[in-house]
Amino acid sequence: MPDARPPEILLSEHQIQKRVAELAAEIRRDCPDDVHLVAVLKGAFMFLSDLVRHMSGKVTLDFMAVSSYAKARTSSGEVRMLKDLDSALDGRNVIIVEDIVDTGLTLTYLQDILRARNPRSLRTACLLSKPSRRQVDVAVEYIGFTIEDQFVVGYGLDYAEQYRNLPHIAVIT
Ligand code: IMP
Ligand code: MG
Repeated sequence: MPDARPPEILLSEHQIQKRVAELAAEIRRDCPDDVHLVAVLKGAFMFLSDLVRHMSGKVTLDFMAVSSYAKARTSSGEVRMLKDLDSALDGRNVIIVEDIVDTGLTLTYLQDILRARNPRSLRTACLLSKPSRRQVDVAVEYIGFTIEDQFVVGYGLDYAEQYRNLPHIAVIT
Protein backbone atom coordinates (compact mmCIF):
# COMPACT_ATOMS: atom_id res chain seq x y z
CA MET A 1 0.00 0.00 0.00
CA PRO A 2 1.21 3.53 -0.68
CA ASP A 3 1.44 4.38 3.00
CA ALA A 4 4.97 3.35 3.75
CA ARG A 5 6.69 6.74 3.69
CA PRO A 6 5.13 10.19 3.88
CA PRO A 7 5.55 11.99 0.56
CA GLU A 8 8.08 14.83 0.46
CA ILE A 9 6.79 18.36 -0.26
CA LEU A 10 7.75 19.69 -3.69
CA LEU A 11 5.42 22.70 -3.95
CA SER A 12 3.95 24.28 -0.85
CA GLU A 13 0.36 25.35 -0.42
CA HIS A 14 1.53 28.98 -0.46
CA GLN A 15 3.46 28.58 -3.73
CA ILE A 16 0.48 26.89 -5.37
CA GLN A 17 -2.04 29.50 -4.19
CA LYS A 18 0.13 32.36 -5.44
CA ARG A 19 0.61 30.75 -8.85
CA VAL A 20 -3.06 29.77 -9.25
CA ALA A 21 -4.06 33.40 -8.61
CA GLU A 22 -1.66 34.49 -11.36
CA LEU A 23 -3.07 31.92 -13.79
CA ALA A 24 -6.63 33.06 -13.01
CA ALA A 25 -5.65 36.65 -13.79
CA GLU A 26 -3.99 35.58 -17.08
CA ILE A 27 -7.06 33.63 -18.16
CA ARG A 28 -9.35 36.53 -17.25
CA ARG A 29 -7.15 38.90 -19.26
CA ASP A 30 -7.39 36.62 -22.33
CA CYS A 31 -11.14 36.00 -21.91
CA PRO A 32 -12.50 39.25 -20.42
CA ASP A 33 -16.15 38.71 -21.37
CA ASP A 34 -16.91 35.15 -20.42
CA VAL A 35 -15.07 31.95 -19.81
CA HIS A 36 -16.23 28.33 -19.67
CA LEU A 37 -13.96 26.10 -17.63
CA VAL A 38 -13.97 22.39 -18.43
CA ALA A 39 -12.29 20.44 -15.66
CA VAL A 40 -11.01 16.92 -16.10
CA LEU A 41 -12.00 14.73 -13.15
CA LYS A 42 -10.82 13.71 -10.77
CA GLY A 43 -7.33 15.21 -10.67
CA ALA A 44 -8.29 18.80 -11.54
CA PHE A 45 -10.97 19.29 -8.89
CA MET A 46 -8.84 21.27 -6.43
CA PHE A 47 -7.09 23.32 -9.11
CA LEU A 48 -10.49 24.25 -10.58
CA SER A 49 -11.97 25.22 -7.24
CA ASP A 50 -9.07 27.54 -6.42
CA LEU A 51 -8.93 28.92 -9.94
CA VAL A 52 -12.61 29.98 -10.00
CA ARG A 53 -12.33 31.66 -6.61
CA HIS A 54 -9.73 33.99 -8.10
CA MET A 55 -11.83 34.90 -11.14
CA SER A 56 -14.30 37.74 -11.14
CA GLY A 57 -16.90 38.30 -13.83
CA LYS A 58 -18.71 35.72 -15.92
CA VAL A 59 -17.53 32.17 -15.34
CA THR A 60 -19.31 28.91 -16.07
CA LEU A 61 -17.98 25.43 -15.56
CA ASP A 62 -18.48 21.84 -16.50
CA PHE A 63 -16.82 18.51 -15.82
CA MET A 64 -15.72 15.52 -17.76
CA ALA A 65 -14.05 12.31 -16.68
CA VAL A 66 -11.75 10.14 -18.71
CA SER A 67 -9.65 7.14 -17.92
CA SER A 68 -6.49 6.07 -19.62
CA TYR A 69 -5.24 2.59 -19.10
CA ALA A 70 -1.54 2.34 -19.86
CA LYS A 71 -1.97 -1.02 -21.62
CA ALA A 72 -4.98 -0.03 -23.67
CA ARG A 73 -3.58 3.32 -24.65
CA THR A 74 -2.78 3.86 -28.31
CA SER A 75 -0.31 6.38 -29.73
CA SER A 76 -3.30 8.48 -30.74
CA GLY A 77 -3.89 8.99 -27.04
CA GLU A 78 -7.36 7.60 -27.18
CA VAL A 79 -8.84 7.45 -23.73
CA ARG A 80 -12.16 6.18 -22.45
CA MET A 81 -14.78 8.82 -21.77
CA LEU A 82 -16.37 8.08 -18.41
CA LYS A 83 -18.44 11.24 -18.11
CA ASP A 84 -19.16 13.68 -20.89
CA LEU A 85 -19.96 17.37 -20.51
CA ASP A 86 -23.46 18.48 -19.56
CA SER A 87 -23.67 21.36 -22.02
CA ALA A 88 -22.60 22.28 -25.54
CA LEU A 89 -19.49 24.33 -26.32
CA ASP A 90 -20.64 26.23 -29.42
CA GLY A 91 -19.47 29.84 -29.38
CA ARG A 92 -17.93 29.63 -25.92
CA ASN A 93 -14.45 30.59 -24.76
CA VAL A 94 -13.40 27.22 -23.36
CA ILE A 95 -10.48 26.50 -21.07
CA ILE A 96 -9.63 22.86 -20.40
CA VAL A 97 -8.47 22.58 -16.78
CA GLU A 98 -6.14 19.63 -16.17
CA ASP A 99 -3.94 18.61 -13.27
CA ILE A 100 -0.81 17.60 -15.17
CA VAL A 101 0.48 17.12 -18.70
CA ASP A 102 2.84 14.17 -18.89
CA THR A 103 3.11 12.37 -22.26
CA GLY A 104 0.51 14.76 -23.64
CA LEU A 105 -1.63 11.93 -25.05
CA THR A 106 -4.68 12.55 -22.85
CA LEU A 107 -4.75 16.28 -23.57
CA THR A 108 -4.26 15.81 -27.29
CA TYR A 109 -7.28 13.54 -27.35
CA LEU A 110 -9.38 15.92 -25.25
CA GLN A 111 -8.44 18.95 -27.33
CA ASP A 112 -9.39 17.10 -30.52
CA ILE A 113 -12.83 16.07 -29.33
CA LEU A 114 -13.63 19.44 -27.75
CA ARG A 115 -12.41 21.41 -30.76
CA ALA A 116 -14.84 19.41 -32.90
CA ARG A 117 -17.68 20.90 -30.83
CA ASN A 118 -17.04 24.40 -32.23
CA PRO A 119 -16.06 26.52 -29.25
CA ARG A 120 -15.25 30.16 -30.06
CA SER A 121 -11.81 29.55 -28.57
CA LEU A 122 -10.13 26.58 -26.91
CA ARG A 123 -7.20 26.89 -24.54
CA THR A 124 -5.70 24.65 -21.89
CA ALA A 125 -4.55 25.27 -18.32
CA CYS A 126 -2.45 22.67 -16.49
CA LEU A 127 -1.19 23.09 -12.98
CA LEU A 128 1.87 20.96 -13.73
CA SER A 129 3.92 19.95 -16.75
CA LYS A 130 6.61 17.29 -17.14
CA PRO A 131 8.15 18.31 -20.48
CA SER A 132 10.81 15.58 -20.41
CA ARG A 133 8.06 12.95 -20.68
CA ARG A 134 6.28 14.42 -23.68
CA GLN A 135 5.45 12.03 -26.56
CA VAL A 136 3.31 14.42 -28.55
CA ASP A 137 3.65 18.15 -28.96
CA VAL A 138 0.54 19.56 -27.35
CA ALA A 139 -0.28 23.24 -26.85
CA VAL A 140 -0.81 24.28 -23.22
CA GLU A 141 -1.35 28.03 -22.90
CA TYR A 142 -1.29 28.21 -19.10
CA ILE A 143 1.18 26.15 -17.05
CA GLY A 144 1.50 26.50 -13.30
CA PHE A 145 4.82 24.78 -12.71
CA THR A 146 7.26 22.81 -14.81
CA ILE A 147 8.62 19.82 -12.91
CA GLU A 148 11.16 17.02 -13.37
CA ASP A 149 10.24 13.46 -14.29
CA GLN A 150 9.02 12.37 -10.89
CA PHE A 151 5.70 11.00 -9.68
CA VAL A 152 3.78 13.62 -7.75
CA VAL A 153 0.66 13.52 -5.60
CA GLY A 154 -1.54 15.93 -3.71
CA TYR A 155 -3.68 18.93 -4.65
CA GLY A 156 -6.00 16.59 -6.54
CA LEU A 157 -3.39 14.18 -7.87
CA ASP A 158 -3.41 10.63 -6.61
CA TYR A 159 -1.42 7.49 -6.25
CA ALA A 160 -3.89 4.56 -6.14
CA GLU A 161 -6.63 7.08 -5.24
CA GLN A 162 -4.73 8.32 -2.19
CA TYR A 163 -3.29 11.76 -1.38
CA ARG A 164 -5.77 13.83 -3.44
CA ASN A 165 -6.61 15.76 -0.26
CA LEU A 166 -3.12 17.19 0.38
CA PRO A 167 -3.08 21.00 0.03
CA HIS A 168 0.44 20.84 -1.43
CA ILE A 169 2.23 18.81 -4.13
CA ALA A 170 4.50 16.04 -2.87
CA VAL A 171 6.83 13.52 -4.47
CA ILE A 172 6.44 9.79 -4.04
CA THR A 173 9.86 8.23 -3.60
P1 IMP B 1 -0.61 11.99 -20.15
O1 IMP B 1 -1.68 11.53 -21.11
O2 IMP B 1 0.56 11.05 -20.16
O3 IMP B 1 -0.18 13.41 -20.37
O4 IMP B 1 -1.17 11.77 -18.71
C1 IMP B 1 -1.89 12.66 -18.05
C2 IMP B 1 -2.56 12.01 -16.87
O5 IMP B 1 -1.72 11.05 -16.21
C3 IMP B 1 -2.83 13.07 -15.85
O6 IMP B 1 -4.08 13.67 -16.07
C4 IMP B 1 -2.75 12.31 -14.55
O7 IMP B 1 -4.01 11.77 -14.26
C5 IMP B 1 -1.78 11.20 -14.81
N1 IMP B 1 -0.42 11.52 -14.29
C6 IMP B 1 0.68 11.79 -15.01
N2 IMP B 1 1.74 12.05 -14.22
C7 IMP B 1 1.28 11.95 -12.94
C8 IMP B 1 1.90 12.13 -11.65
O8 IMP B 1 3.09 12.43 -11.49
N3 IMP B 1 1.09 11.95 -10.58
C9 IMP B 1 -0.24 11.63 -10.69
N4 IMP B 1 -0.85 11.46 -11.87
C10 IMP B 1 -0.10 11.62 -13.00
MG1 MG C 1 -5.82 13.57 -14.95
